[in-house]
Amino acid sequence: MSNNMPQLKLVNFSRLHKALADSAQALNEEINRLLPSQEGIGARLIESMRYSSLNGGKRLRPFLVMTAADIFSVSPSCAVNVAAALELLHCYSLVHDDLPSMDNSDLRRGKPSCHVEFDEATAILAGDGLLTYAFEILTHPRTHSDPAVRVELIRRLSQAAGPYGMVGGQMLDIESENKEWSIGAVTRLQRLKTGELFAFACEAGAILGKAPQPIRNALLAYAHDLGLAFQITDDLLDVEASTNDKKHARRLGDEGKPTFVSILGLEKARLQANILADQAISHLDVFDSSADLLRDLARFIVERES
Ligand code: IPE
Ligand code: IPE
Ligand code: MG
Ligand code: MG
Ligand code: MG
Repeated sequence: MSNNMPQLKLVNFSRLHKALADSAQALNEEINRLLPSQEGIGARLIESMRYSSLNGGKRLRPFLVMTAADIFSVSPSCAVNVAAALELLHCYSLVHDDLPSMDNSDLRRGKPSCHVEFDEATAILAGDGLLTYAFEILTHPRTHSDPAVRVELIRRLSQAAGPYGMVGGQMLDIESENKEWSIGAVTRLQRLKTGELFAFACEAGAILGKAPQPIRNALLAYAHDLGLAFQITDDLLDVEASTNDKKHARRLGDEGKPTFVSILGLEKARLQANILADQAISHLDVFDSSADLLRDLARFIVERES
């Protein structure tokens, strides 16, 4: 190539769509098993947790857990537990993110947000419940027969979700409002806010499969580029939605916050997302065709329209 424009890749996403649908179905069955509906006293909390976790969503993080685990021939019944733990934790982060004191968003996944459907106190507790239950799930022997593997999963998820991970990113996100941050500062914010849970999703497969460190590192490098490419595309979709009639379908509440799009502009941001997707794919060179779904996902993430 004579310039550094990313190559146009023609990817057939039908294989990926089928795999995404299959993993989402397995995940929903697992969440239903882990969080059965209740009646009577205490039912409201469980209903609010079910409402916030069985409400659609792209289910990308669970897909990453299950697809990465499959590379190492991990049993799907183990991987789906980790996928459920991670998705419940992600759903907690969305419930709290939508609260009036945070983004004050009335819609989530096209439906009333948890605090709108229930009330604010219930939404806080639903989030707390989803977060803590995620860690309990990881302690189950169903997740892995080796306790050392379970502890490693708990350690890495705590790091990814905590003050030096997603929660730290959420704080930076709040602090960034109405500030003119550099691209480096925004990259750090996004890596923490979004990238760390993506990184855990990919690494978890390797942890379950007891993969050697260099292989774990390759998946982590893939996940870091994928997470950033995902976030840039998310910002691009937000901007596009705010300028056309899809507005109602997207989350807003990000006004005044610096993003790749606000700093670089639409065209350069899109180019950057494509470069990151290519870079993510190149980190998978250590794998054979067993990582093809991960390769397809990287292209899909920057080409998606919702
Ligand atoms: C939304 O994540 C929050 C961000 C980190 C941008 P997703 O776009 O993956 O949300 P769902 O799970 O598909 O609803
Ligand atoms: C939410 O980020 C990210 C987390 C909850 C960690 P955003 O506020 O940008 O996500 P949306 O736009 O509400 O989905
Ligand atoms: Mg937010
Ligand atoms: Mg938000
Ligand atoms: Mg957003």
